[in-house]
Amino acid sequence: MKLLLNHCSVRNYLPTRISQDLLDEILYSGIRASNTGNMQLYSIVVTLDEEKKKTLAPCHFNQAMVLQAPVLLTICFDISRFYKWCDASNTTADFKNLLWLLNGTIDVSILSQNICIAAENKGLGICYLGTTLYNAPEISNVLHLPVGVVPITALTIGYPATSPEKTDRLSLDAVVHYEEYKDYNE
Ligand SMILES: Cc1cc2nc3c(=O)[nH]c(=O)nc-3n(C[C@H](O)[C@H](O)[C@H](O)COP(=O)(O)O)c2cc1C
Repeated sequence: MKLLLNHCSVRNYLPTRISQDLLDEILYSGIRASNTGNMQLYSIVVTLDEEKKKTLAPCHFNQAMVLQAPVLLTICFDISRFYKWCDASNTTADFKNLLWLLNGTIDVSILSQNICIAAENKGLGICYLGTTLYNAPEISNVLHLPVGVVPITALTIGYPATSPEKTDRLSLDAVVHYEEYKDYNE
């Protein structure tokens, strides 16, 4: 609870590397999350290489943390892998519709947030990059994503260089509705 209640996005990072063991532990904590029918409708592309980050930076409107953070994760909806499994099992399926994109987006979101919590639990900072959806086609080209794999979000992860101020939130009674939705006045 303490960890969750103290969350802040981190946009400035130290150059300290994240060990492969720690990264694996964090990623594995991510994929342990609930997901649609255990189909795991996602793939994670890890970017560590400086040159690759430089290529991706303009896709994120050159937000400085993309180059500064030691690890950049691009988290994608992935129906391609499941299609291959269906083909191999001689099953036909049609997942080319909004429902499955939404299911996959939920899987991506839960996975991503598990990764964030695991990373924060290990003293790392994270920030989501909403720019991923704005420039999904360009990001897909840079990361060689096949048809059926769509970048939904990205995360910068690293040891924090600064401690950001906590942002505020609406109070519970402003966002929680018991039994029925109560509409808002001005
Ligand atoms: C889907 C999503 C996209 C975001 N995109 C960006 C972004 O592109 N750049 C950025 O600096 N912060 C981004 N953020 C971080 C939010 O601005 C931040 O979570 C929000 O302002 C609340 O602040 P806090 O996380 O420090 O509590 C994003 C967060 C989410 C969940």
